[in-house]
Amino acid sequence: MATKIETGPMGVGEGADVARFVARTLPDEAISETRFARQVLLDPNFELEGARIARDDGRIVGLCLAMGRRTPLENAPDDSDRGYLTLLAVAPEYRRQGIARTLVQAAEAYHRDGGRRQVQVSPYAPGYFIPGPDEAVHAGAVALLESLGYGKVYRPLSMECPLWRLTVPDWVEQAERDLEARGVRIRNLDTGLILPTIEFSARVFAGDWVRYAREAAHAILAGDCPERLVVAVDESGPNPVVVGYSHHAAERFGPIGVDPQRRGEKIGQVLMYRTLRAQQRAGYRTAWFLWSDDRTAERIYNGAGFRESRRFVLMKKDL
Ligand SMILES: CC(C)(COP(=O)(O)OP(=O)(O)OC[C@H]1O[C@@H](n2cnc3c(N)ncnc32)[C@H](O)[C@@H]1OP(=O)(O)O)[C@@H](O)C(=O)NCCC(=O)NCCS
Repeated sequence: MATKIETGPMGVGEGADVARFVARTLPDEAISETRFARQVLLDPNFELEGARIARDDGRIVGLCLAMGRRTPLENAPDDSDRGYLTLLAVAPEYRRQGIARTLVQAAEAYHRDGGRRQVQVSPYAPGYFIPGPDEAVHAGAVALLESLGYGKVYRPLSMECPLWRLTVPDWVEQAERDLEARGVRIRNLDTGLILPTIEFSARVFAGDWVRYAREAAHAILAGDCPERLVVAVDESGPNPVVVGYSHHAAERFGPIGVDPQRRGEKIGQVLMYRTLRAQQRAGYRTAWFLWSDDRTAERIYNGAGFRESRRFVLMKKDL
């Protein structure tokens, strides 16, 4: 490594400089300063010690961001014995000098000191940027992590759906009528549905789903599109029971999920088209999401016109 390069933790006054460095060196990820501030600086799990920086004469030329659980995430299973690397970048003119290797090793030491026994790149909820390095765009990162002992876990894919061509198939409209005849209605989230939706999310999807429901409710109550969270509600009994929901935030689609007891009734398809139509009505030309597996893509998304746009590799290493 060039002798003038120094590495160490991020300084408390460096928030804006690091955000700009990230925006510049990871252009494919579209991480604006605001997004960085919200997703990293305001994350209660963020610690300056976990943000390892390389500097040349004081100028930021590299970053590896390590995140570990300090504040529990709703009802997600405890993952405090696991650490994550969520960002890794070196300025183009400083590459192949061993800077990233040094930064990743320092991030691993941070995790080890925090009692974590495994590092994953990078399925960190809720603040992940990508599920892992992009096989095409970040091939160097895959090679680097493999050389440091990381193994490939699986290959999540990201998909996009052009909305200007979207039409709702007749069978989906029929499925919606059939569901309605059985007392299952698709409704926008409103005050009465907040608690049943949170109850559903906590019961059926341990993890990040409760937070999505809460944040969507906050956003809708603050004036966001009321179709942002559409909920499938079984109203055939004395109390409304939520059996699925589908969420979007601007062009970003998801999450979408149906109670495992109620799968196979086409509730998922009806919810998906409701959300895509809402996005289309709001004027977006594309719907996209960052993370699916091949099986779900085949079962649900391909039929609606979603196509693979990126392929990632989730990696992990035992410390
Ligand atoms: C990936 C990245 C961080 C590597 O930074 P770097 O400082 O150049 O990496 P290092 O010099 O520490 O590399 C150490 C080893 O990793 C491997 N490696 C790194 N970049 C590589 C590349 N482009 N191709 C093949 N192997 C590579 C090599 O084994 C290398 O050792 P060597 O140079 O002696 O052959 C940098 O290329 C980058 O910022 N890329 C764009 C952003 C990115 O991909 N981020 C990861 C998102 S998950």
